[in-house]
Amino acid sequence: MKQVDIKIPAEGYCVSYQSPSNIAIVKYWGKKGEQIPANASLSLTLSECRTETHMMVKPSKVANEDYEVSVYLDGEKKDDFVPKIKQFFTRIVSYAPYLTKCSVEIHTHNTFPHSSGIASSASGMSALSMCLVDMERNCGVDMSEEEMKKRASFYARLGSGSASRSIYPLAAVWGEHIEYKCSSDLYAIAVEDVHPVFHTFHDTVLLIEKGQKSVSSTVGHSLMKGHPYSAARYQQAVTNMSKLKDIMSRGDVEAFGALAESEALTLHAMMMTASPYYILFAPHTIEAIQLIWKERKEKGLPVYFTLDAGANVHVLYPDSHAGSVQSFIKEKLSPLCQGGTYINDMVGSGSSKI
Ligand code: PMV
Repeated sequence: MKQVDIKIPAEGYCVSYQSPSNIAIVKYWGKKGEQIPANASLSLTLSECRTETHMMVKPSKVANEDYEVSVYLDGEKKDDFVPKIKQFFTRIVSYAPYLTKCSVEIHTHNTFPHSSGIASSASGMSALSMCLVDMERNCGVDMSEEEMKKRASFYARLGSGSASRSIYPLAAVWGEHIEYKCSSDLYAIAVEDVHPVFHTFHDTVLLIEKGQKSVSSTVGHSLMKGHPYSAARYQQAVTNMSKLKDIMSRGDVEAFGALAESEALTLHAMMMTASPYYILFAPHTIEAIQLIWKERKEKGLPVYFTLDAGANVHVLYPDSHAGSVQSFIKEKLSPLCQGGTYINDMVGSGSSKI
């Protein structure tokens, strides 16, 4: 990615973007070097779980290698968010050297409940990256819409790997894979051939356990180094990416669901067999999975699940069965959620200016 040095206008620059969360079907778990994935991943872009970010940038009188950053969440100053943003700036400053010559004020709002166990890093880092690239473009850097997205995805990846995928509508691939043309370890790309059934696919997030996870994703990724099963897992991910390409193009919901479930359980199996081992499941996670399997078997409903690195369950189903699946969720699965809360989300259109 080329270096872009811009002159921040004397009057400053303000911009706002929204960006959604995403849910990986083939999971990224394990990385090398600076945010390089150990295997390619594919996610569906969501729409309801979003971060809205307003960025205000002003030129500084003197250059500051430590960056001038302030962060507000819902109007409240959050000094504890600053180190994460500074780490992000440190990773991108060689591509965006102007960051040492300005002050950046970031105001964010998440549309999903705080501490819901839904990571705001994917939506937050992608929204902030879009704000930065938008500023570069409006301060004289010539970029097409496509180049802009690629650059924002590149930045977002350096903030949080999975954030690279949130820029694009419907579905995105991050990580080089022979069958996905132009795929890269450095940024995500949009999946081109997505069957209409996946354009309106649903993901209801069951909030099984709110609050902080006991083991962060950063630690989880690092435990894949020297893991006894990592080589086999990375190989399996390559094969699953090939299978998923065909499944997404054919619109094979049953094969999609089976692959999503297997990937989810593999992700957690990697955690349980790491050293030190750990479990992010909760008893209600397993109960929800068993009820989903029972419903599918007894009623023939096309309802499947996937999991993130946490206890929450993502219930996946096509729009054609949304009514019956949502009744099942309300009746049987909501009692397993903390405070009975869940979020009806679905596939969406990626980041956009607000
Ligand atoms: O982007 P990170 O470092 O928070 O890692 C995300 C890992 C998973 O959510 C478990 C899988 C994925 O591909 O999103």
